[in-house]
Amino acid sequence: MTNRTWRIARRPEGIDFASALELTDSPLAPLAAGEIRIRNSHLSMDAGTRMWLSAREDGYQPPLPVGGPMTGLVLGEVIESRAEGFAPGDLVRAFGQWSDISTVDAVMSGAIVLDPTVADRRAWFGPLGMNGWTALWGVEQTGAAKAGERVLVSAAAGATGILAVQIAKLLGCEAWGIAGGAAKCAYLTDELGIAGAVDYKAADVAAQLDAAGGFDVYFDNVGGGLLDQVLTRMNHYGRIAVCGLLADYTAGTRTAPAEFDQVLMRRLRIEGFFSPDFMHEGPALTRRLRDWTEAGDLVMPYDVTTGLENTLTAYAKLFTGGNVGKVIVELPQ
Ligand SMILES: NC(=O)c1ccc[n+]([C@@H]2O[C@H](COP(=O)([O-])OP(=O)(O)OC[C@H]3O[C@@H](n4cnc5c(N)ncnc54)[C@H](OP(=O)(O)O)[C@@H]3O)[C@@H](O)[C@H]2O)c1
Repeated sequence: MTNRTWRIARRPEGIDFASALELTDSPLAPLAAGEIRIRNSHLSMDAGTRMWLSAREDGYQPPLPVGGPMTGLVLGEVIESRAEGFAPGDLVRAFGQWSDISTVDAVMSGAIVLDPTVADRRAWFGPLGMNGWTALWGVEQTGAAKAGERVLVSAAAGATGILAVQIAKLLGCEAWGIAGGAAKCAYLTDELGIAGAVDYKAADVAAQLDAAGGFDVYFDNVGGGLLDQVLTRMNHYGRIAVCGLLADYTAGTRTAPAEFDQVLMRRLRIEGFFSPDFMHEGPALTRRLRDWTEAGDLVMPYDVTTGLENTLTAYAKLFTGGNVGKVIVELPQ
């Protein structure tokens, strides 16, 4: 039996993924002890994986090797198992390969068996997955947002940001988002009902931020020049939760805030956070996120592309702003 897999032929330049990743066929090797085989039904497109495609060794994760498979979160049924606790037919989520079938070590891949009664299994990638955990942790723990405070979120119409603004609102905060374009901003205010949105692609970003007023928490997915704009508009004793640095991922730059002195002037706290650090809190976070989701208080739009062969088009949306909500590749079963 052969299996199609996206392999890293060379490191990508910018968003030219077609020159870097190749869809190859290879036979399935016999399962080793501790491994499971997953028939992928969905692949999660996550912006942070762009860093693993670079050569940098000082990231929070070592680079993926050239020649190896592209790795990311996958969802699907176990079709073969040599790992305790996993049986054929189980619905699982794991760090697998961008392929028809993932073969993973159950422990090393963080594989978990999921409740199959959740009506829309895609939720295991969105509100009930890494994006949900990250959004809740970043707002509540790292950002330490309190009811009544003003919380600003960048990349607010993307998977992580869309959850962060809704969670801030659910926790009693005044939630604001930054997103690219009038349509995304209108979605955030009119559909999700958050207090306001700033269009960072418009000419008058500074004026929009001035009009918005000061913020107590900045949940930052972007870094770059936007971080400087926000640093000069934070309220005293504010917190900046650094979730991601999208401004750098495809540009190959490194965020170095010119307005760093505002940390002292305004007595700010800046702290990065990374989901594997609070993986042990996953079940408790999922319970709260599931309650909100089932009550209809936490919503997630999905941007779905069908077919493994179309994965790169889906992936590029994260870096061009082509998506609202969670980008997913669905594999016909
Ligand atoms: N720390 C953690 O544990 C953790 C876990 C998950 C995700 N993250 C981070 O969360 C962020 C969002 O990731 P995601 O996977 O959920 O993707 P996403 O938000 O669904 O997609 C990315 C969105 O970011 C916006 N964007 C892209 N480049 C930008 C730029 N240069 N400046 C401003 N906005 C830009 C685009 O929307 P516009 O149209 O608005 O530009 C795009 O739709 C990333 O920084 C990622 O690394 C961190």
